[in-house]
Amino acid sequence: MSTRNSNGSLEPREQWGTKLGFMLAATGSAIGLGNIWRFPFVVGEGGGAAFVLIYLGFVCLIGIPLLIGEISIGRKGRANAMDSYKTIKPKSKWYFNGYISILINFMILSFYSVVAGWAFYYFVLALTGQLITNDRSYENVFEGFITNPFMPIIWQILLMGLVVAIVMGGVKKGIEKWNNILMPTLFILLIILVFRSLSLENAHIGLQFFLKPDFSAINSSTILAALGQAFFSLSLATGLYVTYGSYSRSNSNLPANAGGIVFLDLVVAIMAGLIIFPAVFHYGIDPQSGPDLVFITFPTMFTDMAFGTIFAVVFFFFVFVAALTSAISLLEVVVAFVKEKFLMSRKAATIIAGAVITVVGLFCTLSFGPLSHITILDRTIFELFDFISAEVLLPFAGLILALFLGWGWKPAGVKEEVEKEGNPFPLFKTWSFLIKYVIPIIIIVIFLDSLGVI
Ligand code: PHE
Repeated sequence: MSTRNSNGSLEPREQWGTKLGFMLAATGSAIGLGNIWRFPFVVGEGGGAAFVLIYLGFVCLIGIPLLIGEISIGRKGRANAMDSYKTIKPKSKWYFNGYISILINFMILSFYSVVAGWAFYYFVLALTGQLITNDRSYENVFEGFITNPFMPIIWQILLMGLVVAIVMGGVKKGIEKWNNILMPTLFILLIILVFRSLSLENAHIGLQFFLKPDFSAINSSTILAALGQAFFSLSLATGLYVTYGSYSRSNSNLPANAGGIVFLDLVVAIMAGLIIFPAVFHYGIDPQSGPDLVFITFPTMFTDMAFGTIFAVVFFFFVFVAALTSAISLLEVVVAFVKEKFLMSRKAATIIAGAVITVVGLFCTLSFGPLSHITILDRTIFELFDFISAEVLLPFAGLILALFLGWGWKPAGVKEEVEKEGNPFPLFKTWSFLIKYVIPIIIIVIFLDSLGVI
């Protein structure tokens, strides 16, 4: 297992230090703003529990099977998100999907770093005791901050600097080391917050919204949103699992890994819902208030709590860390590609990719302020990046991924990789049926439906 380095000579491919290293890094990627920030607001906009149920269906039927397949591609191909396809099927055009995934990561990180930068700022505000105030003007504070032409840019650049520094450290010393510390911290914080939110007065109203389905809220755009959210939250079809899978050990148990990642990602999204919705209803905040939900609801909740400032520090640290580990993974997919494609050192590839993404990301940031008047397809630049990457490119890349696994590489090939070193592949026949027929059909139907064709 070797990779060509910047001098053109072969060197051993980087690898996770331990089996757990892969799991923590992969869950670190999956768990992020998608769970804490995006999930609550798409649930809010999609009408609550009915949306959650559809989301759950997608996660199980599409998420788990594709995840097993995507990690196998990386572990078999032992290369970046594009070249792994080439190693497996040298004379075909499937590798094209790799290019799409690089583009997806590029686009997601451009807008993701905006919100991650906000989280960074809020963490520092909380830490310096400036966030929680008695006049409760959280909406103004937030609006003032994100529309400012300079402040959010500074935080976005700081955040990207941090991400670049970590990714530059490489797989074991950078990404793995950080995830090992950050991910367990995250879970502990989350559990504390769930208890707090559930003990709020009127918590049951929020819980009802979150857990009791009303199917009248469902239409074709909510279904597409649920599908996009499933892909986004699991970091699925982004080439992330190909890339991280390519650093994994050949004896890792892929179905177990995939199940574990999906389970943890789901648990965190549900916990985020359990934290947010009771608080939203308790304070009379509109659950459809969109992307700013987290930045307004939580400070309000902390103001009324004993030790509110401490909770605010803990919470925004949590959001920041979750965003950081995902941003690391988004950059790593691009870096692995640039490094191997252009035979660059990791350092150079990271700096170049990080700089270009930061510059593009600035436009996303400014679309909340000075550039807010620019709209394309009725969306600001930020919203457009989010929509195109999550609801168009991700499901599309997922479709091609399923077709590759089912009809290009073929289930027998995937089975051989999964079962390497004696690992089991439970429910293989079901898996293969889902991959070959069910998943492509579901994605195509949802696309056609949202285009109004059917
Ligand atoms: N899954 C991450 C989240 O939930 C976002 C992400 C998407 C990360 C795609 C990597 C690739 O925040």
